[in-house]
Amino acid sequence: MHSSAAPPSYDVLVVGGGIIGLVTAWRAAQHGLRTAVADPSPGGGAAHVAAGMLAAVTELQYGEQTLLDLNLASARRYPDFAEELSQATGLDLGYRRCGTLAVALDADDRAALRELHAFQRSLGLQAEWLSGRDCRRLEPMLAPGVRGGLRVDGDHQIDPRRLAKALLSAAQLAGVAFHRDPVERISVVRGMAAGAVLRGGTTICAGQVVLAAGSRSGTVEGLPEELLPPVRPVKGQVLRLRVPGALAPFLSRTVRAVVRGGHVYLVPRENGELVVGATSEELGWDTTVTAGGVYELLRDAHELVPGITELPLTETLAGLRPGSPDNAPMLGPTELPGLVLATGHHRNGVLLTPITGDVMAEVLTTGALPAGARAFSPARFSSRTLQEQPA
Ligand code: GLY
Repeated sequence: MHSSAAPPSYDVLVVGGGIIGLVTAWRAAQHGLRTAVADPSPGGGAAHVAAGMLAAVTELQYGEQTLLDLNLASARRYPDFAEELSQATGLDLGYRRCGTLAVALDADDRAALRELHAFQRSLGLQAEWLSGRDCRRLEPMLAPGVRGGLRVDGDHQIDPRRLAKALLSAAQLAGVAFHRDPVERISVVRGMAAGAVLRGGTTICAGQVVLAAGSRSGTVEGLPEELLPPVRPVKGQVLRLRVPGALAPFLSRTVRAVVRGGHVYLVPRENGELVVGATSEELGWDTTVTAGGVYELLRDAHELVPGITELPLTETLAGLRPGSPDNAPMLGPTELPGLVLATGHHRNGVLLTPITGDVMAEVLTTGALPAGARAFSPARFSSRTLQEQPA
């Protein structure tokens, strides 16, 4: 029997309730927009796996200077954002202004880290070169063989699970509605995104639809093929260990290194959790935790901090980063009126959460991207834009 009740109707429907979808919904609701999120388990997604480094400087990649500006702008917003979110929800986010130490384990690593330091300095970033001895003075658990390192006091951390929980609570408190049936398709009516149809048949009407479905954003049904964002899953395996009280403080800041070309990082939380990450694997939708992935992470972490073998291993998990062709997010309006993207955050979803919320609030209330975010318009990947580019 069909209900004769009118379908639920909103100003904004956010498809995807990970941290990016939730911050978008929270900010939209704060701006007076009637907002809903569609997700079977809001507060889940890649943030459940992520380590939560806010590492704009130590994760700097060559060729990603435009993204760096967005990352730095978001990092600057973090103190106020964390304070506001904690105040709104009464929840502790595990935001820790502890800094990061990036170390080198052999001569090649040291040469690479020196290069990175020169690159950072050419961009005016704060990073201090330390000898191996000074690195160990700062972090006595480091291996004796550490050859040197970069101290970056501005790269902090947050607990992404707490962040997700707080954003969910903040969105609920701000009046966001939640629909927990999976989205079957986005509805397009007369050439405009108009809401979504959920599995089970519920139709949701909305003036604007935000696609924020993380690595699944490119697979949503209902949109013409050419409008699907070019997002792919990039698998990351992550370990969680526990530092018993007797061994605390094991590490006082995030410690990371390149070991034989692979990246490893150790993120110590105040509550004793130690997160070790992460693999980066192009394996489609596979989220198997493999012996090889765990072995590589433990091997590299052990080389960096030998005492890690004493710690209880409490969790192994794999998640999917939403990778985009240039590793930067897609934010803002698309060629389909009413369809807005907030996806493709790849390695930086947690770091970019505050600025994504602000950018999306502006997009949803004015229809335009703020100047600082124009480089992240989805238009850079549209078939029309690509055809216009010189060969
Ligand atoms: N930002 C850390 C990672 O993606 O592994």
